[in-house]
Formats: sequence, C-alpha cells, structure tokens
Amino acid sequence: MAKILNGFSGQNVKKAARLLKRGEVVAFPTETVYGLGANVYDRRAVATIFEVKKRPLFDPLIVHIANLRQLEEVAKINQLFIFKLMAKFWPGPLTLILPKKRKVPYLVTAGLETVAVRMPANLVSLSLIQELGAPIAAPSANLFGKLSPTKAEHVQKQIGKRIKIILDGGKTAYGLESTILFIDRKPKILRLGSLPIEEIKKVIGPVEILKKQKKILAPGNLPTHYSPFKPLKIVKNEEEIFKNKLKKKISFLAFCQVKNKNRFTAFKILSPKGDLKEAASNFFDALHQLDESEAEVIFAEAVPEKGVGRAIMERLKKASSEENKN
Ligand code: TXA
Ligand code: MG
Repeated sequence: MAKILNGFSGQNVKKAARLLKRGEVVAFPTETVYGLGANVYDRRAVATIFEVKKRPLFDPLIVHIANLRQLEEVAKINQLFIFKLMAKFWPGPLTLILPKKRKVPYLVTAGLETVAVRMPANLVSLSLIQELGAPIAAPSANLFGKLSPTKAEHVQKQIGKRIKIILDGGKTAYGLESTILFIDRKPKILRLGSLPIEEIKKVIGPVEILKKQKKILAPGNLPTHYSPFKPLKIVKNEEEIFKNKLKKKISFLAFCQVKNKNRFTAFKILSPKGDLKEAASNFFDALHQLDESEAEVIFAEAVPEKGVGRAIMERLKKASSEENKN
C-alpha cells in the first residue's frame, strides 16, 4: 500500500517532489479532488499515470501550474478575456482549454493541439508544483470511470497498491472536479464542475454548454464516468423509492433529510441545511461509503439544478445504472 504522508509538512512535500523528479507518480490533494501527478515533461512518468489508472490513452490530462511563467510555458493566450477569467477565478476550480505550446508532450494532450490548464487553490498542490519546479500533469486519482477521491483514504482504496506516496491534505474543499471551459471566441463549457456557470457568465457573458460532442473535445466525458460499483438509481424524492415493492437491501443518498431511517441498510445526508456547496463537498465521500455498505442498491435523491447542483446532477446521471446501459 502507499504511504499516506501529511501534506502540510514541508519535508513531505519535498519528499514527494523528489519522487516526481525521479520520474515517479504521486497522489496529492487539490481543492476539487485528489490528483495523480507526474512531471508534465517526463513522458515515461506521464505514461505511468495512464497505467496506474487503467485510463485509455485517448483521454488527455489537466496540467496544473503554480504561476504565470508556467502558464506561458505550456499554453498560448488566444483571447483577451482569459485575463479576466484568471483574475477572477485563479487559483481555483476552473480549467481552461488553450492552444498548446510545443514543449507539452502529445501524450499529455492525447494528440490534441490544445492543453487543459488550471491553477489549483490548494496550498499542498501549489507547494508541490513549486518544489518540483515544473507543472504537474494530473487526472483525478481514481481508477478510470470510478468514483473520484476527495480524501486520501479513497485514493488508497482504489490505487494505493500501485503508488508509493499519497500526500494527505484532508477532505477537499469543493469535492467536485473543476469546471472545464474551452476557450474560443465563443467559449464553451465541456464539463460542469465546482465553479458554477452563473459565475463565469458574470465575467465573460454568455457561454454555451456543450452537451453531445461531435468531435471528442473532452474525451473523459464518457457516459459511464463517476460510477460506484453498485447499481445507482436517481429518484425525485424518498417517497418514490417505496412506490414499488423492494426485496433488496437498499441505501439512500439524500439531499437534506431522511424520514424512514430504519428502512435503509445505510443512508447519507449531503447537506442538512440544503446547501448545494456543502452537498457537493460531501458528494463523492458519501457515495464511497454507500458503495462499501451492505446495501445492494443505491437510491440517490435529485438535487436542485442550479449553481453547483447542476454539476452534482450531471455526475449522478453518469453514475446511474440506466445511463450506463447507453
Ligand atoms: O478538478 C479537477 O479537474 C481534477 C483535479 C485533480 O485537478 N482533475 C480531473 O482530471 O478531474 P480528469 O483527468 O479526471 O478530467 C480531466 C478532463 C477529462 O474529461 C479530459 O478529457 C479533459 O479534462 N481534457 C483534458 N485535456 C483536454 C483537452 N485538450 N481538450 C478537451 N478536454 C480535455
Ligand atoms: Mg476523473
């Protein structure tokens, strides 16, 4: 198993950076989910990421930077409104898709001429990038298509056997992946995420949400992403679960309350206050726990589709068994 090290110790960050310099991969926290990182310029190390995650090579990685010099090293600024976005949202959970510079290996971008870049708002990740002295290419630190990790123990459970170190930064602040914005004269959202679209619109005006992608723009957006191992079904509310006779042991992922506690083998409440941001930060951890419970099925209650609620619903739909049959 991997060693879980306190990420707030400078010594440990140094240790992790040394491994990265030697061409190894390291798991580390960001403000969204945990990432599995490699030195972006080290092709062999980047290849290891794909191996460890069992991720197909056609799915490109996000490049994490700690300063503007690193941004200029990997990407071209092709629109002036990018400065407004950076001023407002970086560091933070917004990934920009920009034209790549030659220095970035095609293995990182899966052959695309664009590169995904973001500056995480997390002390441990920023320190690690700084200590390495190069950007870090990192996908989420889970097995491909499975639940994303928001705690060190989630990383340990899924890929701990295949990596040496997990820097522990506690539970991640946002809990959902970054929002991905394709930069063009007309910017497009490729993935809903921790930063709500409403916020982006306030800064740059209208943005389109790309639903069905003609060309694969965000190949990781496959219909079966974020799946628990157990079947998951979305319900409008708790009552809907009991409309049919149920033989199986059932669990419930509720938004703000559970009325029939004793009818569930396990349940989790995302936010007793009904706060969508709090719900987002608890989302993956709750699913990890229900996935490990004795229950055979997970029922998940729909949340309001506004703000970060849209990103939660998008992930629920992808995790639901019906969607997976497509
Ligand atoms: O919050 C996050 O974004 C986390 C943390 C670790 O930073 N990372 C993350 O990475 O979610 P990953 O690999 O699980 O998702 C990255 C997504 C994929 O859907 C991928 O297809 C897309 O970004 N992507 C990467 N480069 C791209 C590009 N050049 N064009 C379009 N989509 C791209
Ligand atoms: Mg992922």
